[in-house]
Amino acid sequence: MDYVIVNGEYIKRSEAKVDIEDRGYQFGDGVYEVIRVYNGKMFTASEHLERLIESGKKIGMEIPYTVSELKQLLVELITKNQLVLGTLYMQVTRGTSPRNHAFPAADVRPNLVVYSKEVGRPIENMQQGVKVILNEDIRWLLCDIKSLNLLGNLMAKQKAVEAGCFEAIQHRDGIVTEGSLSNISIIKDGKVITHPADNLILNGITRQKVLGICRNNDIPFAETTFTLEDLKNADEIFLSGTTVEVTPIIEIEGKKVGAGTVGPLTKKLQILFEGEIEKECGKIR
Ligand SMILES: Cc1ncc(COP(=O)(O)O)c(C=O)c1O
Repeated sequence: MDYVIVNGEYIKRSEAKVDIEDRGYQFGDGVYEVIRVYNGKMFTASEHLERLIESGKKIGMEIPYTVSELKQLLVELITKNQLVLGTLYMQVTRGTSPRNHAFPAADVRPNLVVYSKEVGRPIENMQQGVKVILNEDIRWLLCDIKSLNLLGNLMAKQKAVEAGCFEAIQHRDGIVTEGSLSNISIIKDGKVITHPADNLILNGITRQKVLGICRNNDIPFAETTFTLEDLKNADEIFLSGTTVEVTPIIEIEGKKVGAGTVGPLTKKLQILFEGEIEKECGKIR
């Protein structure tokens, strides 16, 4: 069955409706999360749900659910939809209220919507690597919030697609920030380097997992800015994200990264990352 959650209720997808004055629909006034499901179990659910609540706080919106309440709702959705391998998409908007830029009255309750989707792992991209373009980062200055407002990201991704590439690597004043739907790390002389978790990037849950893996396996890493020049001179480069896991970049605007194949440290991180998934969700191959 294909159920969705609307404000805590399980409804058939075909019967779910959004009010035209939902503030998410009108303004993109809300926040969202995407959680991966492997073997019918959520991966890093607490981290995603904590970030959702945190994103809400950053836009002045109190999400009326706790992490454990949300988790219970999601577990039941997985069961009802018999989801084995896929994603959960959830969004919380500032509620339904007559259109007005100012926030609605405090008694307007945020709207929660969750749905699930069956989707396989990005095996081919992970094994073969992907091509990317470079794109100026024209987004706002609160990229740490997982906001529904994604126009900058969408326009960047579209440019990549039109160029026959998977992702657009964004840069601001010569500093590489992140992709349109993923974080980016470079590897130079055995060290993993990724942009600090500040207001210019989304602090990816996958990014944090990868850094934890580095910490626990004595792989040198740094959360420091790096330039377009550093990107061009990197030995290996990879994307990280809920949907892309650890995906190697093998070509930037037609120029090969290293030998143009998946590098050894990226491969090692992929294996260790799978280990993390298996710790939470059981064997995945
Ligand atoms: C702009 C952006 N950066 C990074 C990420 C990766 O975050 P996570 O690992 O939490 O999925 C995403 C994922 O949606 C994203 O949209």
